[in-house]
Amino acid sequence: MSVSTTIYTRTAVILHWLIGVCVLAQIALGLWMITIPKIPPGVRASWFNVHKSIGITLGVLILLRLAWRLFHRPPPLPATMPAWEKRAAQANHRLLYTCMIVMPVSGYLGSSFTKYPILYFGMKLPQWGWDSPVLKDLCSQVHLTAAVILIALIAIHIAAAIKHWLIDRDGVVQRMWFAPPQAASASIEPAPPRIQALERP
Ligand code: HEM
Ligand code: HEM
Repeated sequence: MSVSTTIYTRTAVILHWLIGVCVLAQIALGLWMITIPKIPPGVRASWFNVHKSIGITLGVLILLRLAWRLFHRPPPLPATMPAWEKRAAQANHRLLYTCMIVMPVSGYLGSSFTKYPILYFGMKLPQWGWDSPVLKDLCSQVHLTAAVILIALIAIHIAAAIKHWLIDRDGVVQRMWFAPPQAASASIEPAPPRIQALERP
């Protein structure tokens, strides 16, 4: 089987780890910033703006990843993996994608239904929403619920990865990493002979 059918492509790997690390940091930031006292004013608001700016950037990256994923099939899982585990992995991934979409959308909508403008790394974004405490609360509830579900899904996801890595040792974790050098060079066609080698003095 060729390298390209056994592991994820370079684009998928880069997007997975970039988004994965940023989502974890964003969750930590979100949970920490809501504990910042409202007095003195300013500190809490500025961290909220950092969270919103990272969240919007993540939303765009996640959309790119989803669009990319819709046109690319994942490499097949090892034949040794039981069917229930394959179905569980697929369900986990689908739910992860769903939460990764719901989080930035609910955050952005919630922040749009307040009288405060959204500052994207200091730049004021066009304000199309209106001040509606009811809609804001609804979006906040969705944001919080999706955050709890996302944390549980990530915990299951990481636990499964550790099981495959340390117990099953079936190469599932290596699928989400870059091809080893010998595999990468094996997938490259042999270089044509150098011109100098053909020239005779
Ligand atoms: C992948 C993206 C995101 C993740 C993982 C994330 C995660 C979180 C978490 C864990 C919390 C604390 C729990 C809670 O109160 O809900 C939180 C709160 C919050 N987030 Fe996000 N967030 C994301 C995107 C955004 C975006 C794009 C915005 C706004 C533009 C935003 C605005 C807020 C606000 C205002 C709060 C404070 C609580 C509230 O008013 O709902 N978040 N976020
Ligand atoms: C230490 C942390 C992590 C490890 C070790 C890890 C490992 C992996 C591995 C090995 C796969 C491929 C599994 C397979 O094909 O069945 C995978 C896929 C995936 N991971 Fe992670 N992951 C981590 C963190 C995250 C985080 C934080 C997220 C989301 C916020 C995430 C979202 C996904 C998604 C959506 C897929 C499915 C990829 C696809 O087929 O499009 N991962 N991960």
